[in-house]
This record gives sequence, C-alpha cells and structure tokens, in this order.
Amino acid sequence: MAKDGQGRLTSEKDIRSLAASTLLKLFDSLYEGAVAIDRSGHITWINDKFKAVIGWNGTEAIEGRQVEEVMPNSRLRAVAESGQAEMLDVFSIGNRQVVVSRIPLHDDGGAVIGALGVILYDRLQALKPLVSKFQQLQTDLASARKELAGNRQAKYRFSQFVGISAPAREIKEQARRAAERDMAVLLLGETGTGKELLAHAIHAASRRAEAPLVRVNAAAIPENLLEAELFGVEPGAFTGAGQKPRPGKFQLADGGTLFLDEVGDMPAVLQVKLLRVLQEGEIEPLGGNRVKAVDVRVIAATSRDLKAMVDAGTFRADLYYRLNVLPLRLPPLRDRGEDLPILCETLLEKIAEQAGEAVKTVATSGLACLAEYAWPGNVRELHNVLQQAAAHSDGRELGAEHFSMLPKPPVRLAKAADAALPVRTMRDAVAAAEKEEILRALAATGGVKLHAAKLLGISRAQLYEKLTSYEMVSGISDTKKTA
Ligand SMILES: Nc1ncnc2c1ncn2[C@@H]1O[C@H](COP(=O)(O)OP(=O)(O)O)[C@@H](O)[C@H]1O
Ligand SMILES: [Mg+2]
Repeated sequence: MAKDGQGRLTSEKDIRSLAASTLLKLFDSLYEGAVAIDRSGHITWINDKFKAVIGWNGTEAIEGRQVEEVMPNSRLRAVAESGQAEMLDVFSIGNRQVVVSRIPLHDDGGAVIGALGVILYDRLQALKPLVSKFQQLQTDLASARKELAGNRQAKYRFSQFVGISAPAREIKEQARRAAERDMAVLLLGETGTGKELLAHAIHAASRRAEAPLVRVNAAAIPENLLEAELFGVEPGAFTGAGQKPRPGKFQLADGGTLFLDEVGDMPAVLQVKLLRVLQEGEIEPLGGNRVKAVDVRVIAATSRDLKAMVDAGTFRADLYYRLNVLPLRLPPLRDRGEDLPILCETLLEKIAEQAGEAVKTVATSGLACLAEYAWPGNVRELHNVLQQAAAHSDGRELGAEHFSMLPKPPVRLAKAADAALPVRTMRDAVAAAEKEEILRALAATGGVKLHAAKLLGISRAQLYEKLTSYEMVSGISDTKKTA
C-alpha cells in the first residue's frame, strides 16, 4: 500500500518517528546554551554560550568541577540521580531568569549516566506572561520570607530585664559585656530566671543583631529528630521515608545566633556533633556526604547542673569547656527579694495589656505574702501567680487574700530548748518578734526602708519610730541609691 502524507498519520509507529524528528529539529532551534554532567555531578562538557550566560571568564577549566560549584542552585544532579526529566523550568542565574530543560542521558543499556541542561533562552520573549507571573510569585515569596525572618529577630532587650537588686544589676552588666564579645555564652540558672530573655537581649546588643536569632530546645524535640532539626537534611539524601530536604537550625542561624535551650538534655551522639560545630565551624547535614561552613554564635542555656553532669559522665567534658567560655549565672528570685515590687509592677502592666484591662497593683499585705514564698519557678511562676490573682480580683489592689494559692510558710514551733528560757513579758515578746520581722524585711529589700515598710504593712514613719525605739538605727539606706 502506497503511503501519501495523509496515510503516514494513521500508523502509530510512523507518527512517533515523525514526532521524534520534528522534536529534534525544534530542540535544535531552541538549543542555546547547554551543559552536561555525569552521574556524580561532575561537569563533562559545556558550550561557550552557556559559559557566557553564567559569566565564566575563560582561564580555568570548568570541566571536572561539581556542577554546584558553578551554579549553586542547579537541579541537574537531581535529574541525573532520579532519571526524571524536567522539561520546562524557570531558573535564576545571577539576577537573570532563563527558561531551561533538564534531560537525563541514558546509555545503550538504558541506565542513566548523566544529565543535559539546556537553556531555551531566546524563547523567553514568547514565555513572557509565564515569566512575569513567576517573577510576581518570587516577589511574594521574598516578602513572605522577610516576614518570617522578622520572627527570627530578638524579642527582648536588656531594658526588659527588670531588677534593681545587686544580683540583678550584676548579671545584667555581665550580659552586656558578653554581648560585645563574639563568643559562646552559657546561661545557667533555675527555670524561669530569665535565661531566654537574656539570650535575646545579648543577641540584640551584639554585632549580629541584624542577622537571625534561632532557638532550639533540646529537651522539647524527640532525640531521633533533633539531629535533622539542628543540622538539616541534604537534598537527594537516602534518609528514609518522610525526610524531605531542609536546612537545619544552624544554617538558618548562619551569620547570627543559635540559642540552644536546655543544652543539658542533648543526647550524647549530638554532643559530639555540636562540639565539632563549635570547634570547626562546620556542619554535616543528615544523609549528606559534604560538610558546610557556618558562622554561628551559640548561646546555650540549661537549668541543670552541667558541672555535676560532667562529673557523673553524662555530659562531655570537652563540650562543657567549649560552652563554658562565658558562663552567666542567673540569680533565683528568692535571692533578690528587693526586686519583687518592681517585678510585680512590670508583670502586672504586661498582664493588663494582654487582658485589655486596667492595671492592678499589689497591696502591702500582698507583697508581704509574696515575700514569704520561695519561688521555685522564679519570675515565670510570679507571672502566673499574678495573672491568677488579677483574674480573681474585682478591685484594683491585690491583697494577701488574693494570694491564697501560695502555700503558707511552715509555722515555726518553739524549739524544745526554748521551753527552758524564762517566760518574757508580752511586751518584750512582741518587741522581739517585731525586731525580727523588721530585720527580715530589710534583708529582703536590700535595706530600702520604703519597700521594707510596704512589706511590713506599715507606713515609713511607723517603721522609723520602731527603728528608733528598738535602737536599730544603722547604716541602712533610706531610699534606693541605685534606681
Ligand atoms: N528580670 C526579669 N524581668 C522581667 N521579666 C522577666 C525577668 N526574668 C524573667 N522574666 C520573665 O519570666 C518569664 C520566664 O523567663 P525565661 O527567660 O523564659 O526564663 P528561663 O529561660 O530561665 O526559664 C518570661 O516571661 C520572662 O519575660
Ligand atoms: Mg527557658
């Protein structure tokens, strides 16, 4: 049967061979720059046009280099590994966008031996609507990324670390000095003492302030996920189902600060990897076979006794010494009773703002009650207690009755030996009790009489009267010298 032009379009075999030859011609007409790589990602061939597009100027050979060396965001390796073509994509080279095709190359036996990347570059005009849509999406993405980066900025400054007591001023001063030095910092202290707050403030006052602050809580992430979280997962890595390529927190913090919270809870295997980052400044992403350089300042924190953990063998000594370059010990709230009034004021302002209500204050009887308590949860616990008290009071002042959730201090029973002492007159007993309480109040307020009087629930004039009558006049200050 003779075949005319029409006839040849009725057999599939013929159609396919026609299509193939037409496609080849079309391909030739589109074909501009081209580059080929082998299975291991080495460039084996590249034409001059492609060299011109990537701005390669001559002298050194490109052949033999890893493709990412020449184009860091190239996807050619992925195509050579998967054998899946990417027929049409918009690709950025420098600040210019080109339309590309990526095609796997097979040997005669059908095995993938490499990939070819082609710039369909002079057809960009025809694809203008597509490209401009793409550019719009890129712009949207960039602004979304920027917003996201905003979440990685420091939330607190030093001014938000409230405290007038000597221990509070001392730790703040140390932290300010630490901010000026680009070294690892270790924040030690009980839970709720303000370690995270200080980490933010140190970053915000450091030369890295414009770069991200990224937080990782070693205690909150399951051990098997923590490594990927910290160091990332490499594209194309054979790391099992569900593991998508993604950057680790160290990469996200590149140029900035990584706040490594609860570092005492780091599993032993990761302690080794962390040590390596601190020593070498490089990370090894999960499933990857190459290390990456990162420039990250580590601020670590823990509420555990790291030194004791080192002695017990549960925390690596070498890592401990690396982290412990600039140790900052945050004082517990019970050691800075003098800060209670001002902390209450600040926290109640914050609470009122969040609730959209009027600011409440703590009455003297309330302060006395708070001063009795040991605050194992420190400022965080104080915040919670104030929040609860504020929610349960209708008035503007929080008195002792609003703090009934706090356990009462143990009643001090007379010691057996006391029974042998002569019974005092009622007047002397009251005087002794008053003296003791005044001394306690002065100790709790660092000697500031105004605050001590408030704690005792008496006026300042009354306190002076008692100090004089009990002959307790001393070098105690009248008001705070340091405010
Ligand atoms: N000195 C302080 N001044 C004001 N707020 C504080 C202070 N210390 C802690 N806080 C507040 O107490 C809470 C717990 O602080 P955080 O920094 O998370 O403590 P840690 O990390 O030590 O557990 C936060 O809401 C924080 O803002
Ligand atoms: Mg914390």
